[in-house]
Amino acid sequence: MISLVIPTYNEADNIPNLLCKIEQVLSDIEYEVLIVDDNSTDDTVGICAQLKKSYPLVLLQPGGRPRDLSLSVIDGCLASKFDRVVVLDADLSHPPDKIILMLAQLDNNPDCFILGSRYFEGGSFDRQWSCWRFLNSYVATAMARPLVRCTDPMSGFFMLEKSRIDLSVCKPIGYKIGLEFMVRGDFRRVIEVPIGFKDRQIGESKMDLGQQFKYLRHLRRLYLVKLGGFGEFIHFGAVGTSGFVLDLVSYYGLQFLGVPHTLARAISFWPAVSWNWALNRVLTFGERTKRPKTRQWLEFVGSSLVGFAVNFGVYQHLTAEVGFFQRYHIAAFIAGIGCASLFNFAASTLFVYSNKRG
Ligand code: GDD
Ligand code: MN
Repeated sequence: MISLVIPTYNEADNIPNLLCKIEQVLSDIEYEVLIVDDNSTDDTVGICAQLKKSYPLVLLQPGGRPRDLSLSVIDGCLASKFDRVVVLDADLSHPPDKIILMLAQLDNNPDCFILGSRYFEGGSFDRQWSCWRFLNSYVATAMARPLVRCTDPMSGFFMLEKSRIDLSVCKPIGYKIGLEFMVRGDFRRVIEVPIGFKDRQIGESKMDLGQQFKYLRHLRRLYLVKLGGFGEFIHFGAVGTSGFVLDLVSYYGLQFLGVPHTLARAISFWPAVSWNWALNRVLTFGERTKRPKTRQWLEFVGSSLVGFAVNFGVYQHLTAEVGFFQRYHIAAFIAGIGCASLFNFAASTLFVYSNKRG
């Protein structure tokens, strides 16, 4: 017994073929197909109404949330009547005949996550990708590798017992729901079944730049889950460090162009602080509804002015008055940043995140 969860957006032309293949493969097994459709603009509803007559098909159109592949998969899992669930794409990229092998694996290892994998021995893909797209996928995969033990963390073809995962704690964004399940679920290990990934013949991919940003945010979240408090520490450390590097590069770059060092210090603060702001906007608070950029940026700059005053004041004072810092500007540069950070930290513990009521 198994439930098939298939997220769709404008796949009306693929659904009939897909169901036909599935029926061929699973004819001896009790199964249901849940198509989780995000209000496609094509005739998905009509086609499914037809197909319901011949196949054990349920069409879900959850709505009430943004269009999202991962959230659709969760909706499908919640609605499925069997505990065993397999998730696959509607565009026939994931070969349904592999479901049998995956089922056999799950039968023997019910506490494992079964993954259809392109990169595992015997797997393949026939993507006619540009260099750029290939590199993109390679980097995306590499970034997820430390989170899970498998060769294809990006795969969207997988099988599991849904009771092994608390679906209510899942907070996926974007495409990589398989990764979310592997990280959050209670699985002994990932078992990979090699698949031949076929390029879609009909319709078009919904993957775009927006999805790639969502992926970065999703990854960040999963790292925080995996690493706990330490992850937060690393995250803020990494954001801070990247700002520091930018600050340093602009500081020396400006001096290289002939700008006096005090002025260079005053100017280089701003790209760095804006960079940190942008990173936090995309990553840290990426899930909240975004307020207008310019206004938010101005508010941020306003609240940074005090930090700037401390940072610049310390730099200015040390390089003007203290012999050691006159010789080593970089030491004053670091001292300024250090004092401003201490100040920020003190201000936020005392005021912003204080335990006082009200
Ligand atoms: N409900 C819903 N909502 N379904 C969606 C949405 C959405 O917003 N966006 C895409 N889908 C459906 C598509 O209709 C398709 O059935 C499936 O999700 C995959 O979408 P594609 O647009 O075909 O994705 P892809 O080919 O770029 O990505 C594939 O490769 C990845 C690995 O590289 C998918 O197989 C991914 O699952 C896989 O991780
Ligand atoms: Mn596809």
